[in-house]
Amino acid sequence: MRCKFCPSKPAIYMKEHRLALCSKHYVEWFERYVIRTIKEFRMFSKSDKILVAVSGGKDSLALWHLLRKNGYSADGLYIHLGIGEYSERSKEKVEAFAKRIGAQLRIVDLSEDLAGIPDLVKITSRSACSVCGMVKRYNFNKVAREGGYSVVATGHNLDDEASALLSNVINWNLKYLGKKAPVLEEEEGFVRKVKPLCKVTEKQTALYALLEGIDFIEEECPFSEDATSVFFKEILNQIEERFPGTKLRFYLDYLRKVMPLFEKEERDLTRCRICGEPSPTEVCGVCRLKDRLKEIAHVK
Ligand code: AMP
Ligand code: FES
Ligand code: ZN
Ligand code: ZN
Repeated sequence: MRCKFCPSKPAIYMKEHRLALCSKHYVEWFERYVIRTIKEFRMFSKSDKILVAVSGGKDSLALWHLLRKNGYSADGLYIHLGIGEYSERSKEKVEAFAKRIGAQLRIVDLSEDLAGIPDLVKITSRSACSVCGMVKRYNFNKVAREGGYSVVATGHNLDDEASALLSNVINWNLKYLGKKAPVLEEEEGFVRKVKPLCKVTEKQTALYALLEGIDFIEEECPFSEDATSVFFKEILNQIEERFPGTKLRFYLDYLRKVMPLFEKEERDLTRCRICGEPSPTEVCGVCRLKDRLKEIAHVK
C-alpha cells in the first residue's frame, strides 16, 4: 500500500474514508477536513474572534494549533480546576504551548473566586464531572462574552460525540437528543459554541498532534472514572472494526435525520440575581456553590 498522493509509505489507513496517507499528506488532509467541517456547519470565519478552551490534552491543543496555522484569530482559555498535580502539569503544557505559538492565553483559577473541584465535590451531591462541567461552561461563556469573542471552540471529537449520542439513545434521553449539535447558536447572554473536531476521531487527532510535534498531557483527570463513556467508546470501536464508517454515519445521520424532528426548545432564561450571568434559575449554579461555601465557612 502507498500514500494516495505520493509513492511514500502510508502513516495511516482510514478504512472509513478508504484512504491511505503518508505523514505529510495526512497533515494536509486533516487540516482541510476540519476546515471543511467548520465551513459546512457555519461555525465561524476568519473575521471571527475565537476563544479556544484548552485543557492541555491532545484535542484542544491540536485544534488551537490548526486554527492559528490556518490564519484564524484564536486565543486560548485554560481553567485551572485545582485538581492537584494533574492541574499543575496540564497548566504547564498549555502555557508552554501558548508561548511556542506566540498566542494569547487567558487563565481562570477556580481557587481564586470559588474553590477547586475537589472542594466543590465535597459540598454537593453531584458527581465531580457534572460540577466540573457546569463550572467550566460558566467560565467559557463569561470570559468569552466579557472579552468580546464571538465564539467558543472546544476540542470534542467524533468519539466523544458519538459515544454520548449512543448512551443517550440507549437511555432514550430525549432532552439531550434534541439539542446536542456541533454548533450552539448564540442567544441572550450566551456566546456561540462550536466543536470543529466533531468529524475526526480521537486516533486521527492524536496522530495529527504527534506529527505536528504538539506536547500534550496524556494522563487523564483523576476524577474521570466515567466508566460509562469509556464503555460506549469501546463498543463503538468494536462496531467500527466490523462495519467501517459506522461511527461517523451514526453521528452525521443523527444530525441530518433526527435532530430536525425535534422542535427548538425555547430556553426559559433569566439573569442570575447575584452575578448577572444567564441562568434558568434566580440564582445560578455557580453562585449557589459560592453561597454554600460561605455557609460552611461560617459554621466552622
Ligand atoms: P472533556 O470534557 O475533558 O472531554 O473536555 C472537552 C473539551 O472541553 C476539551 O477538548 C477542551 O476544549 C475543554 N476543556 C476541558 N477541560 C478544560 C480546562 N480545564 N480548561 C479549558 N478547557 C477545557
Ligand atoms: Fe472535570 Fe476531571 S476534568 S472532573
Ligand atoms: Zn504522500
Ligand atoms: Zn450567578
